[in-house]
Amino acid sequence: MYCTRQVTPTITWVGGNDRRLARFENLFPIERGVSYNSYLITDEKTALMDTADTAIQRQFVENILHTLAGRTLDYLVVNHMEPDHCAGIEELMLRFPQMQLVGNAKTLSLIQQFYDMSLDGRTVIVKEGDTLCLGEHTLQFFFAPMVHWPEVMVTYEQTEQVLFSADAFGGFGALSGNIFDDEVNFTQAWLDDYRRYYANIVGKYGMQVQAALKKLSALDIRIICPLHGLIWRKNLQMLLGKYDLWSRYEPEEKNIVLFYGSMYGDTENAVEILAAKLADAGMHNISMYDVSGTDVSVLISEVFRCSHVVLACPTYNNGIYPPMLALLHDMQALSVQNRTIALMENGSWAPTSAKNMRALIDGMKNMTVLEPVVSVKSAPKEQTMETIDALCNAILASLKE
Ligand code: FEO
Repeated sequence: MYCTRQVTPTITWVGGNDRRLARFENLFPIERGVSYNSYLITDEKTALMDTADTAIQRQFVENILHTLAGRTLDYLVVNHMEPDHCAGIEELMLRFPQMQLVGNAKTLSLIQQFYDMSLDGRTVIVKEGDTLCLGEHTLQFFFAPMVHWPEVMVTYEQTEQVLFSADAFGGFGALSGNIFDDEVNFTQAWLDDYRRYYANIVGKYGMQVQAALKKLSALDIRIICPLHGLIWRKNLQMLLGKYDLWSRYEPEEKNIVLFYGSMYGDTENAVEILAAKLADAGMHNISMYDVSGTDVSVLISEVFRCSHVVLACPTYNNGIYPPMLALLHDMQALSVQNRTIALMENGSWAPTSAKNMRALIDGMKNMTVLEPVVSVKSAPKEQTMETIDALCNAILASLKE
């Protein structure tokens, strides 16, 4: 049975939710599921903004047929050709033989890479700034390459001032009836998953996100309709502000997150001593994670949040403890910049993990490594406490800058 909501009287949310998928892209854990959003505009012409993942096709088609109420679908706008949004193209081509696909040249080449359907006479190819009139509504297309794939474009509806933003401004988490930002407590229930989505899906492409934000700043936007997560009609400026910070690789908070790997609890002990000293000095809201037990997508999200990061791990195979190495590789891959790092290592006979961690951090932009480095030989001892004290003071001084 159909399950839809009105975004405006003429724009209908026809998407759906997947709470069965364990990992988005078979990679990122999504305990709260994910939504695949799609929007149908009904005017003299009808236009659908993207399709949805195969997981919700039955629900999705029922939603469209109900909303069309017997009319045909005239246009399918393909803003993004990743399969979580384009899996319904072929079925809609068959159901609506007059329907035209609207996309750019790159969109069409990706369609042909993914599918074997004939596009002869079925396409409207658009360029930057082109418009398509539906009657009262006029769609205008702006390219946003690499937010998140090269073909990505966003569509601006001029009359109702609605931006269909593709993956941009989306987030993990299935929708629970409430589809609008003003219907939920975003900061409490959604922000962490939005940051995790941003950091892991488009974190690498900060420069391209900045270019897209600059382009969008010229538009009057009343509503943002992304392909995942909430529809934004109230706190747009807050979300745009977060995107601006994240895409400039600036931290949201002047605060510290401590990551440790620990084989037998001794490195963990050293990190907890440091955290206790920071707390004694008045620091609040300190976060700490065991890298062996936390998905790296969560760790990366915390790096995007915090200005200061402690990395502590044993030496392993004469290098970096593997889960910590995975985090550092992710930081490199996602272009993490502008952070202050404190290093702690452990090694029973030849500690080298700090040296190796520093070498990877040196390859990232505008990173500061604090002194001293805490080097533990097997387990913290009284002399280790002095170095931890010194590192604690260095962190506190740096946070005051
Ligand atoms: Fe939600 Fe890049 O696909």
